[in-house]
Amino acid sequence: MESTLRPTRARLLVLGLLAFVAGLAVFSGGLIVWPSKMLESDAEDVAQAAQPPSEPAAQADQPAATAEPEVYVQRRRDMVEYQLRARDITDPRVLEVMGRVPRHRFVSEEQQRRAYEDHPLPIGHDQTISQPYIVALMTQLAAPKPGDRALDIGTGSGYQAAILAELCKEVYSIEIVQPLAETAKKRLAQLGYRNITVRSGDGYRGWPEHAPFDVIVLAAAPNHVPQPLIDQLAPGGRLVLPVGGYPQQLTLITKQADGTVRRRTIAPVMFVPMTGEAQRQRKGPADEKRSNPGQDNNL
Ligand SMILES: C[S@@+](CC[C@H](N)C(=O)[O-])C[C@H]1O[C@@H](n2cnc3c(N)ncnc32)[C@H](O)[C@@H]1O
Repeated sequence: MESTLRPTRARLLVLGLLAFVAGLAVFSGGLIVWPSKMLESDAEDVAQAAQPPSEPAAQADQPAATAEPEVYVQRRRDMVEYQLRARDITDPRVLEVMGRVPRHRFVSEEQQRRAYEDHPLPIGHDQTISQPYIVALMTQLAAPKPGDRALDIGTGSGYQAAILAELCKEVYSIEIVQPLAETAKKRLAQLGYRNITVRSGDGYRGWPEHAPFDVIVLAAAPNHVPQPLIDQLAPGGRLVLPVGGYPQQLTLITKQADGTVRRRTIAPVMFVPMTGEAQRQRKGPADEKRSNPGQDNNL
């Protein structure tokens, strides 16, 4: 009896461990690392209403208004109240736009009923759409203004680009996984965004043709701050990114009017790693300090 039970228990333990690691891999893209109030979706399934036809956009740059199932409107309202306002999201423009952009339109049909839950979701190609709170926090830290030009690195589903596009004049977005870039581009066009330009490529070197940027948001983690992104910040500009290994540190970098940069560590987070040149150029802490002189750490 003993001898038959032991291997079964061991197998269960191994299976449990594998399930935990798999879960962590799926849900680690764009997540704050602190105990958070989980909002489970209601048990009832959301009927997959056919996508309503778009109405003509009021202005060339604004997305078309669409009717949507009331259940999503309610879930978005709850998301803003219990995941954002109940924490530390206080910027009224950020709260307003998070309460308006239809996050469920940025995920697959199977994931739509989970779109307003308090965690990242898979979007294919081993990538994720970030937790709503992380998107709101990064946006609040980036402090976008109506006349600003923004660079969004790691387009993924296009959701962060859409949030920025509602708050800035123009958004340039780069995604290294080509099929994700193509899908996001189509999705954003269908939703009526005219002020977002998406391209497929490595965002490590930014987008010099459109620099300088008032806002840069990077949603994948390098182990050091890419110098080209600091170079492409406008005076007064804000760069928000996760930096380091697991967990990474969400970091805000601001460029002063005289060109010096300040660096502030915000919170531990878990993002997918930045691939491409970021991985080829991995640096130790001493190298990074040398390449970013004049910064104040942990302000
Ligand atoms: C957490 S997801 C971003 C979520 C996205 N902002 C959204 O709203 O759905 C990170 C994304 O960064 C992309 N990525 C990773 N390394 C990159 C790089 N070097 N350049 C551009 N994109 C990169 C990944 O392919 C992935 O789609």
